[in-house]
Amino acid sequence: MSNPLRTRLTLLLLALFSTLIFAEKHAAAVLAVRQAAAPPVDQCLDYSRTANLSVIGTNSTYRATYLQESNMGTLANQKMFNAAQAKLPKLTADAALNQACGNLTTVALTEAEKNFSSKIVGPFREVKLDAQKIDAGPLVVVICGLIVLGVSLVWGIMP
Ligand SMILES: *[C@@H]1O[C@H](CO)[C@@H](O)[C@H](O)[C@H]1NC(C)=O
Ligand SMILES: *[C@@H]1O[C@H](CO)[C@@H](O)[C@H](O)[C@H]1NC(C)=O
Ligand SMILES: *[C@@H]1O[C@H](CO)[C@@H](O)[C@H](O)[C@H]1NC(C)=O
Ligand SMILES: *[C@@H]1O[C@H](CO)[C@@H](O)[C@H](O)[C@H]1NC(C)=O
Repeated sequence: MSNPLRTRLTLLLLALFSTLIFAEKHAAAVLAVRQAAAPPVDQCLDYSRTANLSVIGTNSTYRATYLQESNMGTLANQKMFNAAQAKLPKLTADAALNQACGNLTTVALTEAEKNFSSKIVGPFREVKLDAQKIDAGPLVVVICGLIVLGVSLVWGIMP
């Protein structure tokens, strides 16, 4: 074997080796990055729960339907919704969280709408879609007026 050929072969082998070593190191680095960026499961679950609740709490129709279906106290539910609504904006704006988990705010918005159109609100199926919002408008004044009038009349004609 001539000398130049041996040199070339040696160089080739060296190149091959360093490529292999680089590739292996690189793969390890990629793996490490991927492991570091693996979605923090607990945080994603919390984000998902908060987003789902907040979306229901924010939409008066969903909220009224949920309250009607739930057998928990309305006050406890209201508190839960309010807490979720207060907490969500920070999670929605957290770029790292949204990258790790996906934008679960968007997911909750679209899925809640999809759920509602198939009569599902949160965990409740086959909901009645005509849930009444608590009425606090002029009608309440009229009704109270009528009651007062009725009671006065009864009092008035009492002997
Ligand atoms: C939130 O809603 C999404 C979409 O319907 C669902 O996949 C997810 O399981 C819900 N999250 C929780 C914690 O229930
Ligand atoms: C997630 O989606 C919501 C609306 O669906 C948007 O307002 C918010 O900026 C998004 N968050 C990120 C970090 O992209
Ligand atoms: C949609 O309905 C499913 C099934 O009941 C429920 O698990 C999920 O949390 C609902 N999603 C939202 C965003 O309310
Ligand atoms: C609540 O959801 C219903 C059904 O998806 C939608 O028609 C309505 O516009 C929403 N209301 C608000 C205040 O976002």
